[in-house]
Amino acid sequence: MVKKVLHSLTLNGEEVQVATAAGATLLQTLREDLRILSSKRGCNQGVCGACTVLVDGTPVRACLTLTARCEGHAVQTMEGMDGDRVMATLQRHMVQSGGVQCGFCTGGVLISARDLLEADPTPSREAVKTALSGNICRCTGYRTIVDAVCGAAEELSQ
Ligand code: FES
Ligand code: FES
Repeated sequence: MVKKVLHSLTLNGEEVQVATAAGATLLQTLREDLRILSSKRGCNQGVCGACTVLVDGTPVRACLTLTARCEGHAVQTMEGMDGDRVMATLQRHMVQSGGVQCGFCTGGVLISARDLLEADPTPSREAVKTALSGNICRCTGYRTIVDAVCGAAEELSQ
């Protein structure tokens, strides 16, 4: 039987207590115990970026982050970003530009893109490419994703 450990953290603005497997990663806890499914299990080795979420406002690889390290910290996922203007604008541009195909990478891409626009509201195309370089997409060839982020930045800065 898997030994479970109780952890307290803030998830999308709400205090939660979750019983999760001892030594579980944040990705495991989010998907298996909290049914937060926007964070995807791709490589599970810190490479693809599909699991990216925010911890205390900073993007992290949930597959490399132990849940125990999140005790008392604030975790934010796509599920908690309803009403976020920057995210909503990014999402609309991603759909319009064709930056979403299978969608597996999309949550992580959007978290990284939003983080970029928070730090640099008017990024160059090169800066967008650099910011998204840790998010692998097998479908789009990236151009449409970069178009979407540049388009969203332009709209948000007007
Ligand atoms: S699943 Fe975490 S980086 Fe790929
Ligand atoms: S849209 Fe399929 S992996 Fe990016």
